[in-house]
Amino acid sequence: MSIKYAEAEPATTDATKYVGRAVDRIDGPAKTTGEARFAAEYSYPDLAYAALVHATIPRGRITAIDTAAARAVRGVIDVLTHESTPAMKPPPKPSVLDLSSMVAGTSVNYLGTDEVHWNGQPIAVVVAETPETARYAASLVRPAYQELPAATDFEAEKHHAVPQKSSLISEASANKGDAPAALAAAPYAVDLTFSTPPQSHNAIEPHASTAVWDGDRLTLHEGTQNIPWTRRHLALRFGVPEKGIRILSPYVGGGFGGKGSVWAGTLLAVLAARVTGRAVRLALTRESVYHTVGGRTASTQRVALGAEADGRLTALIHTSVSRTGRTGGSGEQITAGSRHLYAAPNIHLQQNVVQLDLLANTFMRAPGESIGTFAMESAVDELAWKLGMDPIELRMRNEPERDPLGGQEFSGRRLREAYALGAERFGWHARDPRAGAMRDGKWLVGMGVATAYHPSLQMMASVTVRLEAAGTLVVRCGLHEMGMGTATVQAQIAADEMGVPLEQVRVEYGDSDLPPGPQAGGSMQTATAAAGVLAACAKLKRTLTGLARRAPGSPLRGTRPADVQARDGGLYAGGRGLTYKELLSAAGRDHVEAEVKGSTLAFMAKFLRERRKWVKAATGAHFCEVRVDPDTMEVRVSRWLGVFDAGTIINARTAASQLRGGIVMGLGMALSEHTLIDPRNGRVVNPSLSEYHLPVHADVPHIDVEWLNEPDPNMPLGLRGIGEVGITGVAAAVANAVRHATGKRVADLPITLDKLL
Ligand code: MOS
Repeated sequence: MSIKYAEAEPATTDATKYVGRAVDRIDGPAKTTGEARFAAEYSYPDLAYAALVHATIPRGRITAIDTAAARAVRGVIDVLTHESTPAMKPPPKPSVLDLSSMVAGTSVNYLGTDEVHWNGQPIAVVVAETPETARYAASLVRPAYQELPAATDFEAEKHHAVPQKSSLISEASANKGDAPAALAAAPYAVDLTFSTPPQSHNAIEPHASTAVWDGDRLTLHEGTQNIPWTRRHLALRFGVPEKGIRILSPYVGGGFGGKGSVWAGTLLAVLAARVTGRAVRLALTRESVYHTVGGRTASTQRVALGAEADGRLTALIHTSVSRTGRTGGSGEQITAGSRHLYAAPNIHLQQNVVQLDLLANTFMRAPGESIGTFAMESAVDELAWKLGMDPIELRMRNEPERDPLGGQEFSGRRLREAYALGAERFGWHARDPRAGAMRDGKWLVGMGVATAYHPSLQMMASVTVRLEAAGTLVVRCGLHEMGMGTATVQAQIAADEMGVPLEQVRVEYGDSDLPPGPQAGGSMQTATAAAGVLAACAKLKRTLTGLARRAPGSPLRGTRPADVQARDGGLYAGGRGLTYKELLSAAGRDHVEAEVKGSTLAFMAKFLRERRKWVKAATGAHFCEVRVDPDTMEVRVSRWLGVFDAGTIINARTAASQLRGGIVMGLGMALSEHTLIDPRNGRVVNPSLSEYHLPVHADVPHIDVEWLNEPDPNMPLGLRGIGEVGITGVAAAVANAVRHATGKRVADLPITLDKLL
């Protein structure tokens, strides 16, 4: 095995390649100079500003809505309500035949109904000459309600959960052997109940839309993770041709799944622009994001493990309850990781779901897996305590050779190496295995580990690559740049494939006029786009080779195509060849272009075929050190190391940032994040960054990130997605370190000090 370390050295040692290097982000200068413009930063001469009015009851009907005071404010252009505004078309029912139907955040037809389905649902929109006027006037709108009984308290309602339905991509249950009997017979067992709270999306850029109509043509500046489905959805809702809608999304200030669906703000900005005839900007306040953009489900989970004295698992049980809204969201794949992690002969997994009168839940970085691994990896740690065994050793004894449920091969899995390298680098051998035995001054010191796991998927993308006479290579694909280096890594790939300097590659993205890209979700964008770029470059090379073999005077006349290489800015066979500039000039062309088209059917067929053969996933080993104040029981995370088996690393810098970002978000999940919902009325009571606590710099230690850089044999360029794997397992690693420091198992997130006193 050869291990290459990240960051200090490039992931590849091939100096002629860009893939693997720590290339600076192409969009870096635009962002640091403020030149990059986000959706709420586009001006139009007639720009008006919108603000939302939110319902204050969880369920019922609006019996009257008084807008007189709001309309009387100078500078108010219009107040849109269900009484005054033509309705949009209702959202389509979700269907696997049209994947874009899945993009509706909720099934509510905003302002098309007097019904209220959650506390915070938008029930009116004020459009005004300034944002301040719009917000002030919105505060003057007075609705009257007929209230209906509502179920909003997850704790009270979770007992009504029903078995979740499986979907094409995610199964909600699994059974192998007889897990309850094996658990009852096991000489060593743990049986734990976990709970995790709801969490809200807090991207640095709150959701914003700037909408401009010209007849039936719409231009929308929008930070989105899903340009093509958003466009299709808007065409359906507004009854206009899809071709007439242009979505521009060159910069997205973080997404994490919260910008993967079409939420009220987008629809109502477009509606307000349609109704008022003005260009309309709707930049949500942080509070409006909490009320209109779904977040992570609350969960309760049971993990029971039975083992022999040598640590070998005999029973693995993981069941869960998550919640949706009654008007949207879906049950989360909380037990998905538990399908693949441990070689237990008896397995029982069951996901359950309950509907509440709350805003729909939605994707939030590793939906399901992030909280599922908290429970599973905490339980494995607790079993290690029971057995008196090192928690890494326990995991290694149960590391499966093939998938524990399906029996498929792993498409590469180096979890053993990840743990071995991590243990060495982190100094695991220095850990005193006794609880509360390690101290630094007065601080209790604890060390914990946990496994990270996220499936590797790929969807479909259309891509064109064009070589221009001046030597520029243009890659065109409607990709999404949420800050992770999307354009940079695709430029690296294209530069390598065509043998041109990186500076000569331009990636065009973030625009619905481009060939449609994949959604930026499920950690699939990079692999999906890479497959498209590779295929388009191969096609372009074939075309160019054909031209080079025919062009008059070409040194490649008569060469076999198989001998022709794209390198050094041209095509070469042995010592002979010509630059692209010379080639295009000899062929009399100002550009040559190649195109590949993505197909949903082909994607589905490939997905279903491959699923039978391999289990593809990024995995990793988290190492966490905490310091706990013995007087206040305050927990500080003092050191972190994550070692990942994530396939080929395309860009050592952006990859390290992406993985670190996942770990930081996991620290929030572990220690502070909690959307507080008033159980009496379903109102989010902490919709702001002052009361919803994200980790700040002072909460985050230096985070070391390393990877094994072993290509996945069944993924494009051997790369696996890394957007989500970083967060999985993090909360468990913290909880396990806290257990080591204090002897206390906290199974209820977040781990606040009151739970340790
Ligand atoms: Mo992600 S939660 O698929 O953006």
